[in-house]
Amino acid sequence: MFVLDALNYASDWLDGSLAFRWSCRMGVCGSCGALVNGTPKLTCAAPIPETGEVLIEPLHNFPVQKDLVVDIGGFMEKLVRVEPWIIRERERALEEGEYPQKPEELEKYDQFSACINCMLCYAACPVFAADKEFIGPAAAALGFRYNLDSRDEGANERLDLLTGGAGAFDCTFVGECSIVCPKNVDPALALQRIKIDAAVTSLKSIMRRGK
Ligand code: FES
Repeated sequence: MFVLDALNYASDWLDGSLAFRWSCRMGVCGSCGALVNGTPKLTCAAPIPETGEVLIEPLHNFPVQKDLVVDIGGFMEKLVRVEPWIIRERERALEEGEYPQKPEELEKYDQFSACINCMLCYAACPVFAADKEFIGPAAAALGFRYNLDSRDEGANERLDLLTGGAGAFDCTFVGECSIVCPKNVDPALALQRIKIDAAVTSLKSIMRRGK
């Protein structure tokens, strides 16, 4: 029995007013996140401990709307802010065919595309806890995923979006985001690589000016 089963039991038999989100019940939709005994988890994938006792709380760091339902508006805005789509300097005409991609090119960004937007990483992030403007792990990993895509040419355009005010450089590399991720995405790695890419871009630009 999983925590989500217990919530559904409570809702069906004990208190129909209990508010919580879920949809797929199989760790795919990302909507059932909550704190389970103090740790951010997907309730559909968190077994009830053998003692039968479990403390379920809304995700930390988000305004609570009711019971376990938190306001996801700010998070959604951050996801869009990083321009998570393929940007081309020149769009190819349809008759020019598709953009081919080799397996090794897919490999480069594959893990970052596994994010299910469950927000567990934001609930675990001490930087986001202190500053709700911080771009945060999932949005940074999403932007970085497109930067790594061989079909994309928008990395420079995303640079400011990912590193400007409250951007990747605010990350102190605690790494809790990667620890709690239920899909084994490593957003902490994405944030550090964004910093490195920004530093290299900046250095190249200084060197070009010096010539
Ligand atoms: S219900 Fe969809 S991830 Fe848990």
